[in-house]
Amino acid sequence: MPTLSRRHLILTLTLGAAASMTNAEMKPADVTAARALFANNGCANCHAINGKADGPTMRDIAKRYQGKKISAELANRIRDGSTGRWGPSQSHPPQGILEPSEAKLLADWVLSGAR
Ligand code: HEC
Repeated sequence: MPTLSRRHLILTLTLGAAASMTNAEMKPADVTAARALFANNGCANCHAINGKADGPTMRDIAKRYQGKKISAELANRIRDGSTGRWGPSQSHPPQGILEPSEAKLLADWVLSGAR
């Protein structure tokens, strides 16, 4: 069925383009700062930006919340902990070492697509 498969291809390409679109633009300096926070605060012990790890990948988180205005909420979850959203037995421990502004930067970076 060539017609169906062509339509499928177009749908796939459209979804792919949508997935690569970012939520909000971030300044390059903020992206650098957010990546440094991610690297230097143990996040990478449990998370990959885009790859296998115990916790959800930053890109999967970005995808799930794409288009949702939850930056402040997500920043709180990063600092206060989060559980039961990605699996029944997983939990994201509180990261009180982060300043609220740092948690906000991380949340914005994730929501912008974790690039
Ligand atoms: C000990 C392991 C661990 C560490 C360290 C950790 N996380 Fe998590 N994180 C998880 C797990 C597991 C989940 C999924 C929790 C759930 O199912 O609700 C999660 C969830 C998240 C979420 C999604 C929350 C939501 O509302 O969907 C974000 C964002 C996040 N982590 C960011 C970070 C950042 C940024 C750091 C570093 C400052 C970090 N995590 C450190 C294990 C960890």
